[in-house]
Amino acid sequence: MTKTTATAHTNIALIKYWGKKDAQLNLPTTSSLSLTLDKFYTTTTVENSDIDQLIINGQMADPNRVHHFLDGLRTELGDFSPLLISSQNHVPTAAGLASSASAFAALTAATTRHIGLDLPLTTLSRLARRGSGSATRSLFGGFALWQAGTNDQTSYANALPTSNIPISLLVVEISGLQKKISSSDGMLRAMTSPKYEQWVHDANWQITAMQTALQAGDLTQVGQLAENNALAMHALNLSAKDRRFTYFTPQTIQVLDLVKKLRQNGLIAYATLDAGPNVKIITHADQAAYIQAQLHQELPKLRVTIAHPGPGVSYEQ
Ligand code: PMV
Repeated sequence: MTKTTATAHTNIALIKYWGKKDAQLNLPTTSSLSLTLDKFYTTTTVENSDIDQLIINGQMADPNRVHHFLDGLRTELGDFSPLLISSQNHVPTAAGLASSASAFAALTAATTRHIGLDLPLTTLSRLARRGSGSATRSLFGGFALWQAGTNDQTSYANALPTSNIPISLLVVEISGLQKKISSSDGMLRAMTSPKYEQWVHDANWQITAMQTALQAGDLTQVGQLAENNALAMHALNLSAKDRRFTYFTPQTIQVLDLVKKLRQNGLIAYATLDAGPNVKIITHADQAAYIQAQLHQELPKLRVTIAHPGPGVSYEQ
């Protein structure tokens, strides 16, 4: 029986997606820009089966989200046989990295290839979006820009021109994860913040400024823009009118303080955070090991992984 396998890497947004214009199609309120990482990825194998089934890391998973996603593909691409999907997530448990980005990118690539289609990456990106917004960007290596677009046809990501910027990203895993608020629920709440309109306004110029900084190889500017954007996203959560909340824990604040201290000591270190308490530190590739050692000295219990720009989607037969 033929099997088709695809691998996609996870990505971290430097300018975030945080709000939906259309929750069914995952159409975002703003464009977003990300870096795909080498260290964390999902490998997914699909084969024909009697019913749609999903196995993640060897365990049967809740099939609802995937059924819904596959049915969407069937409506758009034509019917295809039920599939047995086996996924291996190479994302450290509790890292708080969104494995949904790499998972839906790999699933879209493996499924479309399995049913005999050879689609452009931008089409795969558009299809992957319906599973998880951040998956649009995981089809591409390096930096990717997800254009918000205005409808299902126009909302997808593209690779940005290669930048030789010597960037590294340290992923700091914070223990004692608080109860998770899903990104979809978090976005709904954040959109009730009185600051939301300003967020949308700022994203427009931040996307352009970030591209300029990447092309110029200006890592300090990249870091500053990314940190400001991430903290503004988390300020929306704190200022939501409806069910305000935070993903931060006391240790998140400790790491943010340490990042500031590293900067005061002349290092390039800027923080970004997603839908969880973990901190990712943007730095120069030459400074990553030193920063890792500093973190270890001050907060020895936290695991820190150094990641670099990673590749786009790939296949094996
Ligand atoms: O598409 P989701 O549900 O994985 O949401 C992603 C939300 C953030 O990670 C916080 C931001 C982003 O752009 O990836």
